[in-house]
Amino acid sequence: MRSFVIGGAGFIGSHLVDLLVERGPVTVYDNMTVGKKEFLGANLTAGRVTLIEKDALDLDALGAAMKGHDVVFHLAANPEARWGLERTRLDLEQGTIATYNALESARLAGITKFVFASSGTVYGNLATACKEGDLGHLPISLYGASKFAGESLLSAYCECFGLEGWITRFGNVVGKRGTHGAILDFCKKLKAHPEYLDVLGDGRQAKPYLHVTECAKGILYVFDNAKGEKPNVYNLAPEGYTSVKKIAEWVVAGSPYKTARVEFGAGAQGWPGDVPLSLLDSGKLNALGYRLQRSSDEAVQQAIREVAAEVFGVT
Ligand SMILES: NC(=O)c1ccc[n+]([C@@H]2O[C@H](COP(=O)([O-])OP(=O)(O)OC[C@H]3O[C@@H](n4cnc5c(N)ncnc54)[C@H](O)[C@@H]3O)[C@@H](O)[C@H]2O)c1
Repeated sequence: MRSFVIGGAGFIGSHLVDLLVERGPVTVYDNMTVGKKEFLGANLTAGRVTLIEKDALDLDALGAAMKGHDVVFHLAANPEARWGLERTRLDLEQGTIATYNALESARLAGITKFVFASSGTVYGNLATACKEGDLGHLPISLYGASKFAGESLLSAYCECFGLEGWITRFGNVVGKRGTHGAILDFCKKLKAHPEYLDVLGDGRQAKPYLHVTECAKGILYVFDNAKGEKPNVYNLAPEGYTSVKKIAEWVVAGSPYKTARVEFGAGAQGWPGDVPLSLLDSGKLNALGYRLQRSSDEAVQQAIREVAAEVFGVT
C-alpha cells in the first residue's frame, strides 16, 4: 500500500506514519509550519518515508506529488482552534481550501481512497453524548466550521466522483510529540513562570481525551474495517471526559514545580468558540470492533508523564 499523508510530520500524522510504514512506502507532504523532521525519525533516514516539504494550498505541487499512491490520509489543519479568533481566514484556508485541494488532487490522480481527520467540534455545543448522526446543531468555532465543510466536501466527492471516504471524528488527542493543546500549554507556562499556572476559563470545561497511539490505530482500524457508507463516519473518543481543572492540577503535580498555584479565569469557555462540555458516543466504533484501552483520565495521566518528560526532562 503506497500511502500519502498530508500533515504527516505533525503530532497525530507522525504516529500514523509509524504504523503505515509496516504496509509499504509512505510519502509525507507537510509544509513544516508545525511538523518536525525528528517526528519521522528512523523511518525517514531508513528511506521508508519520503518527505515533501510543500504546502497543501499549492494545488499543482500537491497534485504532482500525489500521483502513484493508493490512499490519501489528510491530517493537515490549523493546529489551534482559538487562532481562528485572531486570523479569521486561517481555517478557511488551512481547513476548507486545503481539504478541497487534497480531494481534487486525489480525483485528478485517480486515487479512490481518502481518509479525513475530523473532530467532535462538528457537533457544535451539544451537551449530550453525540452520535455520528447528531448533526444539525452546527459548529461554533471557525475550526469546527472548516471540519464540517471538509466532511461535506468529502461526502460530495464520494457521491459525484466515486471516492471511497473514511472520516474519524476525534476527541482531544494527547501524548508524545504533542504540538499544541492544554497539557503542552500548561507545561510550557509552568516552565516560563514556575510560581503559578493560569488557566483559560473556569476550569470546568470537560472533553474526552484519547492517547495518540490509540488514535492512530483507530484511524487505521476504521479504514480497514468500515465499508458501505458514502463516506464512512466514526467518532474516535472514549465515553467519559476529563476537566481542565483536573488536567491543571495533575500537570502541576507531575512537574518539578509542585507548589505552583493554579489560577482559573472566568467563564465556562476557554475562549469564544470553545465547547464547554463535549461528549462523544463511541457505540458505533465499538460495534465495528475497536475499543480504546484507556479511559479519558488514563490517557491524560499517561500524556502528562510523556509531555513532562519532553518539556521538563523529568519522568
Ligand atoms: N490533536 C487533537 O486533539 C485533534 C483533535 C481533533 C482533530 N484533530 C485533527 O487531526 C489532524 C492532525 O492534528 P494534529 O494534532 O496532529 O496537528 P498538528 O498541527 O501537529 O499536525 C498537522 C500537520 O499539518 C501540517 N500542515 C498544516 N497546514 C498545512 C498545509 N497547508 N500544507 C501542508 N502541511 C500543513 C503541519 O505542519 C503539521 O505537521 C488535524 O486535521 C486536526 O484538526 C486533532
